[in-house]
Amino acid sequence: MNYRHLGKAGLQVSELSLGSWVTYHNQVDVGASVEMMAAAYDAGVNFFDNAEAYAHGKSEEIMGAALKKLGWRRGSYLVSTKLFWGIHDNPNERNTLNRKYLIEGIDGSLQRFGLDYVDLLYCHRADPTTPIEETVRAMHSIIERGKALYWGTSEWEAADIIEAIDLAERHHLHKPVVEQPVYNLFEQHRFGAGYQPVYEHYGYGATTWSPLASGLLTGKYDGGIPEGSRGSLANMQWMRKSLTDKERLGKVAALEPLASDMGASLAQFSLAWCLQNPHVSSVITGASRAEQLHENLEALEFTDKFSPELMAEIDRIFG
Ligand SMILES: NC(=O)c1ccc[n+]([C@@H]2O[C@H](COP(=O)([O-])OP(=O)(O)OC[C@H]3O[C@@H](n4cnc5c(N)ncnc54)[C@H](OP(=O)(O)O)[C@@H]3O)[C@@H](O)[C@H]2O)c1
Repeated sequence: MNYRHLGKAGLQVSELSLGSWVTYHNQVDVGASVEMMAAAYDAGVNFFDNAEAYAHGKSEEIMGAALKKLGWRRGSYLVSTKLFWGIHDNPNERNTLNRKYLIEGIDGSLQRFGLDYVDLLYCHRADPTTPIEETVRAMHSIIERGKALYWGTSEWEAADIIEAIDLAERHHLHKPVVEQPVYNLFEQHRFGAGYQPVYEHYGYGATTWSPLASGLLTGKYDGGIPEGSRGSLANMQWMRKSLTDKERLGKVAALEPLASDMGASLAQFSLAWCLQNPHVSSVITGASRAEQLHENLEALEFTDKFSPELMAEIDRIFG
């Protein structure tokens, strides 16, 4: 395993990390979580991603129970959570980054995890109805209270990230250090031109999500929606259209010979491609089964196999 700095921050994250969206509670129980987290940790993964909203808080409970069983030394791993959507039906606790919600929300997460602090706390989305300064001050308070060590953003516009950093610097507050954007062969917009200053000038880190476009980039949806896959889950019906879109499936098919020339599976190829981007600190993977995790961890064998010609050919396919 290689480790990359979270942008300019002192923290180092493993190039591949493991997250719990969709899988925990729906597909992965505490036993399976222990098995997969142990396999990841043994391979050098040091970062485990979560969010309050995942399975309505149950994902944090499962990861917390797994961590308790695993008994790892706290300094040896990083856990994150994210706040925004909320799990209580109350105007001040839904779709917000107001101070009250953030200060109380982190307590709920820590209780579910059974942890004293998380290493990374993300604002899961931007909240245009709360001043960025209120959010920056609340995140600073959480860090000062020792409940999170670093904070970041997820799916924020570049201008809002820069405003948060500038505000924090001006007022000597803990500034956000990392974005959590979607990033895969289909979705590259969060590293577009507008984000260059965020990564190059401000030295922001990036822990990226859905590297396999929810499984589409493994080729598993070529013949329709396989039983037991993410696309087959009742609560993921909204995703079926994009998982079976002909144009997208055509691009995956065009990738197949490139991956097989490399000796990689489509999943390994697509994960290794994400790591070609020097602004990516860690690629957060997801797995519903241990075999997937083992296959995905081997993607690291292919990270140095992407020539400029191959990158150009990939760009030609994906535009
Ligand atoms: N910040 C955000 O807004 C945000 C949003 C989404 C995700 N995330 C984070 O990013 C993490 C990863 O996202 P993701 O789960 O969408 O990642 P992904 O890699 O795009 O999709 C993972 C899913 O693809 C399938 N899969 C993975 N490896 C496979 C393999 N080798 N062969 C066949 N199928 C395979 C599995 O689903 P099935 O087996 O069920 O088909 C697995 O659960 C999440 O867990 C979460 O921590 C963050």
